[in-house]
Amino acid sequence: MKSPQLLLLATVLGLAGFIPTARAAVPILTAAESEFFESKIRPVFVENCYKCHSAGAEKIKGGLLLDTREGVLKGGNTGPVIVPGNPDKSLLITAVRYKDKDLQMPPSDKKLPDNVIADLEQWVRMGAPDPRTEGASAKATYAADIEKAKKHWAYKPVVKPSVPEISRSVISRSVISNQPGGTVTTDSLITDSTQ
Ligand code: HEC
Repeated sequence: MKSPQLLLLATVLGLAGFIPTARAAVPILTAAESEFFESKIRPVFVENCYKCHSAGAEKIKGGLLLDTREGVLKGGNTGPVIVPGNPDKSLLITAVRYKDKDLQMPPSDKKLPDNVIADLEQWVRMGAPDPRTEGASAKATYAADIEKAKKHWAYKPVVKPSVPEISRSVISRSVISNQPGGTVTTDSLITDSTQ
């Protein structure tokens, strides 16, 4: 790979192959981002929101699931609830700020403490980093067909397949008939070819 053109081609092809995979994958977060979510955001969601916005909720409210990264990204009945980097445009932040009379979360005068609201705002400003890769919602909506899976060849017990019997006389006879001159005796050939 000495020529610069080849190198360039390899780079372009490499990138072309890489970009779609990178988009689909879970973003790699820094330790600080994961730590921020785990210590300041996840407990807030669990304690104050899961009752109505998780797969475990009796009835999921507003079509919004906050117990998975996918749920947060997808948003609720009215669409995305987070605009990464922009708390003021994020419905989730509007809701916890209690400024909009029509959407106050958690409801019933249970406004979160100011420092918690500030953490949520900070989280959205950071781009809403969310290290969760799977969760309760994923489990609730995905039911594996175990019976079908069991039929996959890889899960079947190893068996010794039956091999069809081959008639020795057939082989022997064809060998004899191919002998030029036909001086070989039938007996010696049969013995040789079957040992
Ligand atoms: C007691 C149940 C309950 C709890 C707890 C609760 N919510 Fe809600 N939430 C609702 C209901 C009901 C709706 C539907 C809109 C409405 O009727 O106000 C909703 C809707 C929302 C919406 C709007 C979704 C959309 O697309 O319209 C957001 C954002 C939201 N909740 C965020 C939160 C957050 C964040 C928490 C935790 C801090 C939380 N909620 C806690 C009941 C709850």
